[in-house]
Amino acid sequence: MYNSMLIVGCSKGTHLAGKIAKKLKSSYSELKVKKFPDGEIKVRFMSNVKDKVVALVQSFYGNINDLVVEIIFAAETAKDLGAKKVFLMAPYFPYLRQDKRFKAGDCVSVEVMGRLVDRYFDKVFIIDPHLHREVKLSDIFSIKSKKLTANPLIADYIKKNIKNPLIVGPDWESYKWARIVAEKINCEHVIMQKKRYTGRKVKVTLNKKVDISNKNVIFVDDMISTGNTLLEAVKNLKKLGAKKFNCIAVHGIFVENALEKLRKANVKVVTTNTIPNKVAKIDVSGLIVDSLKK
Ligand code: R5P
Repeated sequence: MYNSMLIVGCSKGTHLAGKIAKKLKSSYSELKVKKFPDGEIKVRFMSNVKDKVVALVQSFYGNINDLVVEIIFAAETAKDLGAKKVFLMAPYFPYLRQDKRFKAGDCVSVEVMGRLVDRYFDKVFIIDPHLHREVKLSDIFSIKSKKLTANPLIADYIKKNIKNPLIVGPDWESYKWARIVAEKINCEHVIMQKKRYTGRKVKVTLNKKVDISNKNVIFVDDMISTGNTLLEAVKNLKKLGAKKFNCIAVHGIFVENALEKLRKANVKVVTTNTIPNKVAKIDVSGLIVDSLKK
């Protein structure tokens, strides 16, 4: 199958697409994306896609909405040019947190995204999707979908690099990362509670007594966006005497100088490279390769 597979690096996917193709010994090509002065984009395949299984690699960070249009144009063009199947490999997939009508009149964006992807793709692969009310990818997509997780890679990283860990999940949903990773390395963990007021304002509390003496506190979560969840959690744990913190997250989105704010709060952050950034030390390309092989 890999002979007939073409891995295509879309504009926010080249950091992983080349590695994936190399490991699979498949052909690789970059999608050419041109932006016109009025904001329109045009995509062009630079390799022949006819009779190929085309895997578009795109991580949705930065100008997310342009990236969505890009993959739709690319998928439709690939089919038009005779591709056998078109897969979407999304190391980071957006809009998953907009999973309900929070206020009357709201769009349930994740459902729209699901229908869009269904329309244009044959299969979708997502690393550590933020699944909350929609508990499985099959609640969102009708096409085949594959959820991958970086939890084993995070557990390995902690085992190799941090002694006496105490894993902290900064909100209840983070148990899917914090608790699972703690179980894998057989260490203690605790989950905090979060109340979100706005996209930027949260309150994080710990309703449990924990002894953090001689422990290295490691926050584990799926994503860091503004960093406010972690900054609030840090404020709270400082009251227990902790001075330095580690955080390992899957997706380092880091908007509004989040990384700098965390560094100033004495938090050493490491992420995977689902989104490239200067602390992306855990490589997820192998996860995608293994799942494509299966
Ligand atoms: C939400 O439940 C996620 O797991 C993260 O905790 C959250 O999205 C992080 O966002 P921020 O860094 O903006 O607080």
